[in-house]
Amino acid sequence: MVNSLIPSSVAAPPVEAVRGFAREVARDLALTPKQIQSKYLYDALGSSLFESICRLPWYRITRAEARLLTRRASEMVAPLEDPVTLLELGCGSGEKVALLAEALRSRRRRVAIHLIDISPTALELSERTLGSLEHVSVVGHRATYEEGLRHAARERPPQGGLLVLFLGSNIGNFDPPASHDFLSEIRHALRPGDGLLLGADLVKPVKELLLAYDDPLSVTAAFNKNVLVRMNRELGANFDLTSFEHRAIWNPGERRVEMHLVSLVEQIVRIPRADVTVAFEKGESIWTESSYKYEPHEIVELVSGTGFRSHAQWTDAEARFSLTLFVAK
Ligand SMILES: C[S@@+](CC[C@H](N)C(=O)[O-])C[C@H]1O[C@@H](n2cnc3c(N)ncnc32)[C@H](O)[C@@H]1O
Repeated sequence: MVNSLIPSSVAAPPVEAVRGFAREVARDLALTPKQIQSKYLYDALGSSLFESICRLPWYRITRAEARLLTRRASEMVAPLEDPVTLLELGCGSGEKVALLAEALRSRRRRVAIHLIDISPTALELSERTLGSLEHVSVVGHRATYEEGLRHAARERPPQGGLLVLFLGSNIGNFDPPASHDFLSEIRHALRPGDGLLLGADLVKPVKELLLAYDDPLSVTAAFNKNVLVRMNRELGANFDLTSFEHRAIWNPGERRVEMHLVSLVEQIVRIPRADVTVAFEKGESIWTESSYKYEPHEIVELVSGTGFRSHAQWTDAEARFSLTLFVAK
């Protein structure tokens, strides 16, 4: 846990973080199918590639959510009591929380912002984005969602409202039982009257969904394959990048887009710092990310079962994306 926005994106990751990465890689590559958790996609290069993905014409989530925030931010912050604390889980560039902070400027009170992200690069980007706002103070937590949430909730002032932002359809990376558990954990960290603003991507035509995760410029392919580069660098692995291919598939039964890295040949890969040797069949894949898609009413049902009531929902009809504001009961 780091309570400052200083860490450099080029610095070597802390030893403990590398050990945790090694442990989880060894565990998850032994599963069937083989897996790597999507949080490991976000090293310095991964975070920069994600920012590029957000600018691709085929990845519409970021622009749709920014449109809704730009138009409706003042309604979203209206229920919060002063002094306001904003807490963003997985802040990325910080551009979205900045839109909400702008909407709070007219209250003439300082706004505390807690940024939680596993990626030092994302925290640095957010610091730059929020640096020009004089009425905000920012605390960065280089941590997982769960750790950062617990830590930030302990640091909030005794009075005032807190709004948790979980945007960019990050909730879609959790399978339904895990999302229920995580939303309950968020609720547990809050007080009655606090808010949760949840961004979720909606079901749409399969062609559109797949283009968002397998773009013609191959930026998403680079983002996905970079986790192999990361394992080579941090864990001493010998993945041959030319023998793996990025693939995005729509799983209609689970209503999720899955990203995979498919082995093009039968091969053996060594990962010394994880103390494993992994055998791949030709065509076997590592499953690196899930992105579940929803209908607007499903979001309300999912979150309402975890101790929140729904306050308002806004939908971008053009890109089929929704933002829902919940209040802790
Ligand atoms: C898909 S990006 C979304 C960024 C931003 N919220 C947006 O809407 O554009 C996910 C962000 O969450 C961070 N992240 C992913 N998994 C995480 C985890 N388990 N704990 C903390 N941060 C995580 C990544 O580093 C990345 O910055």
